[in-house]
Amino acid sequence: MINSSAKFSIINDDSLQVLKLLPKKELFNLIFTSPPYNLGKVYETKTDIDQYLNVITPILQESADRLTQDGSFCLQLGLGLYKDKKTVPLDYLFFPIMESFGLKFRQRIIWHFRHGFPSEKQFSQLHEVIMWFSKTDNYHFNLEDVRVPQLYPNYKKKGIVTGNPKGKNPGNCWDIESAELLVGDFWDNIPNVKSGHCEIVPLDDKGTKHPCQFPVGIAERCVLSMTKPGDLILDPFAGVGSAGVAAVANDRRFLGIELDKIYADAAKQRLNAVVDGEASYRPHNAKIPNPKKI
Ligand SMILES: C[S@@+](CC[C@H](N)C(=O)[O-])C[C@H]1O[C@@H](n2cnc3c(N)ncnc32)[C@H](O)[C@@H]1O
Repeated sequence: MINSSAKFSIINDDSLQVLKLLPKKELFNLIFTSPPYNLGKVYETKTDIDQYLNVITPILQESADRLTQDGSFCLQLGLGLYKDKKTVPLDYLFFPIMESFGLKFRQRIIWHFRHGFPSEKQFSQLHEVIMWFSKTDNYHFNLEDVRVPQLYPNYKKKGIVTGNPKGKNPGNCWDIESAELLVGDFWDNIPNVKSGHCEIVPLDDKGTKHPCQFPVGIAERCVLSMTKPGDLILDPFAGVGSAGVAAVANDRRFLGIELDKIYADAAKQRLNAVVDGEASYRPHNAKIPNPKKI
């Protein structure tokens, strides 16, 4: 299933069934995933909270059980909506569940984007979170590969430049733009600009895309800091393979499991293109585009 020489494997099946077939031993150095949010997207049926958790929790548990001792589990989450019309911040819901697997909470990372769904009755939702857990307190973390440019690179105190010339710690509030945005020197909310992003994976001739594709950059920053070249990364809700792009483009191996055949096929094609050096993606440290001046 995961050949040690293969760069990636995408399995089109139910994660729970696939994971249960794997030996219960340390397999994954990083699990980076975004489960369905129960919003009634095309790939999910909206249910009540208990039903939702009954489906997602065992998949997370089977994944966590196969994490290496120095491994990390990053859960990318937003808000969930339930049949009883309750809105729930999913990090709140999943925190005790992840702790019950014996995982250690490390940090809540805020992923801030500038375009959200416009709302009339509340503030527009402009962030999601990444809940970072590790298997033990002896977790792998390499800051050097994810430094970002200093804000004031020439700032001096008593004549000496104070900042690290290699860049600063990116902090836990990430301004990596959403895959919904056009990359370039302008952005806009005209619908067709969405197709301008270099990471959009068209699923048919009409340009249909995965409704919840996340940008590679958020996974890439975790891949680079939490794993080493050759390590194995799992996404049990792989979608069109964005976490896989972050892994394979950075010489890590990837196992993605995706229930929907169209998404799974698109992920395979996308990752083959990465292996062939043909896929384009927006690196985690790319410059944020400025709005066009009108
Ligand atoms: C939030 S999306 C993830 C999108 C992904 N991060 C990307 O960038 O393409 C959740 C995905 O989980 C898939 N999924 C839902 N239940 C699943 C299951 N039991 N096993 C495998 N995949 C599942 C859905 O089809 C959907 O593509």
